[in-house]
Amino acid sequence: MPAWTCARTTEQARFVTRQQQIDRIYKPILFIVCLVPFLQMAAGAFGIAGQTLGVNPVEDILHALGEWGLKFLVLTLLVTPLKDIVGKPWLLSFRRMLGLYAFFYVLMHFLVWLILDQQLYMAGIVKDIVKRPFITLGFVAFLMLIPLAVTSTNGMMRKLGRRWKKLHRLVYPIAILGVWHFYWLVKADVREPLTYAAIFTLLLGWRVWKARQRRARTASQG
Ligand code: HEM
Repeated sequence: MPAWTCARTTEQARFVTRQQQIDRIYKPILFIVCLVPFLQMAAGAFGIAGQTLGVNPVEDILHALGEWGLKFLVLTLLVTPLKDIVGKPWLLSFRRMLGLYAFFYVLMHFLVWLILDQQLYMAGIVKDIVKRPFITLGFVAFLMLIPLAVTSTNGMMRKLGRRWKKLHRLVYPIAILGVWHFYWLVKADVREPLTYAAIFTLLLGWRVWKARQRRARTASQG
């Protein structure tokens, strides 16, 4: 066997073991770590393991779930720049799980509002969505997250081809709507939503800059 074939086979074997390690060890660990905030909230709600909630438990849980939704959106958008900066393509293996966790926390946030806060009272729900702008924004962001979660499987990725990438660019307006929703609901101290706004601006700005660089490179080659 020629030396170069042998080297390539060794490289491929190394890639397979790295991917196996990711699938069998790191992904399950990340799955559990991402679930911890939810488990803590559940423990607080049921008074398990010494965890307690404040005087307004529904509000506490609603707020915590909303914040975790935003945090996971940040983490999802952080994966690609991090991969480019540290030069580790395998980091992309974790992006889908982080995105699905963003959806999970926003879904729970929505359900807590729907079931515990509104107590499934339809007229109140519709009135809130239509009449309270910050709820309208959150609701639109939530609706936009649904197609991303539904098409996150390998099968849907293959089926949609190039359209998949276009569809998943919805994550940028979703992040903007999520922060706007947060900004509008806080009455006095806007430091936290503005911090998220700054982080998303950096993450989106970085992508715009990269895309421009790519276009300039293609133009100079052509
Ligand atoms: C991408 C979607 C969403 C994100 C990222 C998000 C995020 C947030 C955040 C960060 C907070 C504030 C947490 C805090 O004060 O620390 C919040 C509060 C809240 N969100 Fe959302 N949310 C989303 C969707 C929704 C939806 C769909 C609804 C309901 C239809 C909703 C209803 C609320 C309510 C009622 C509050 C509490 C408002 C208050 O304190 O009076 N959110 N959300």
